[in-house]
Amino acid sequence: MLENVQNLQNQIESTTLATKEDADKFKLTHLSKKGSIQELFKAFREVPPAEKKAFGAALNALKQLAEQRYTEASQSFESESVLGENGDLTRSGNPHDLGSIHPINAIKDEILDIFKRIGFNVSTGPEVEDDWHNFTALNFPEEHPARDMQDTFFVQRNPDWALRTHTSSVQVRAMENVAPPIRTISPGRVFRNEAISSRSHCVFHQIEGLYIDKDVSFADLKQVLMYFAQEFFGKAKIRMRPSYFPFTEPSAEVDVYWGLENEIDHKITKGTGWLEVMGCGMVDPNVLKANGIDPDIYTGYAFGMGIERIAMNRYQIPDIRLFTENDKRFLSQFKTGL
Ligand code: PHE
Repeated sequence: MLENVQNLQNQIESTTLATKEDADKFKLTHLSKKGSIQELFKAFREVPPAEKKAFGAALNALKQLAEQRYTEASQSFESESVLGENGDLTRSGNPHDLGSIHPINAIKDEILDIFKRIGFNVSTGPEVEDDWHNFTALNFPEEHPARDMQDTFFVQRNPDWALRTHTSSVQVRAMENVAPPIRTISPGRVFRNEAISSRSHCVFHQIEGLYIDKDVSFADLKQVLMYFAQEFFGKAKIRMRPSYFPFTEPSAEVDVYWGLENEIDHKITKGTGWLEVMGCGMVDPNVLKANGIDPDIYTGYAFGMGIERIAMNRYQIPDIRLFTENDKRFLSQFKTGL
């Protein structure tokens, strides 16, 4: 009897298990209910009592050996097979998650497109600026509070350098580089030393526009802003409130009439129906002069807006910090189905 066990062991040891079919056949031959090992277990009854113990032990060891060979073989096929043991070609795949366009970029592109359609080109400039481009050429007096450490991030190694506080610096570069007529729009990241909260952040994005030519008037500015309001907000009604910027004179804040039809309107316009959108004004003659443009020949207008604020209104985003946290749950809401 022990001989039978030995023979079977030789057979089990020498079987090649190169393919899944081999392994299946092996399982059927040796490990199934009617398999060779079970047959030997049935023969157990006929074994003389003195031999039972040795026979039983040998048979158990054999069963373990066969099981081990089978498991090892089938595991190796599993890791080789792309489909796995239960491969099903009709199952849907695991598609790679497509990214989404960041809401700041989406708004930026939309605004740029609106101005590109009426002849503005797009200009960009460095995020680290010198005092001239960020302040002096824009008619900031020497002691203007915006130059203060509280508002501006200065570069420690060279206090003449700072992270730009607005993209008006790009417009100075435009005036430096090209002669009028200039019609340019400058998007970019800007930096201010502000306490971070749900409404304010020390890094945000602006888009600023500049138009310099002969006979540019405040009426031209107003017309262009009405066009923008109509294109972007679908509402052409705007109002201008007097304001102050060192680089424009006169200066104004621009509000778009949003309406007060429902609760959200009340919320985003703080109950006024008006949405504050941007600052603007006629380029101060001092700025033109500082940049080598004769204010007796040329006039111009400029405007600037914060993209975060507009995006927060458009998408009802309650906290500005969401834009920079890169939380996929936030970002994936802006999928455009591209
Ligand atoms: N540079 C201004 C700001 O940072 C915006 C502005 C641009 C205002 C152009 C008037 C004209 O807020």
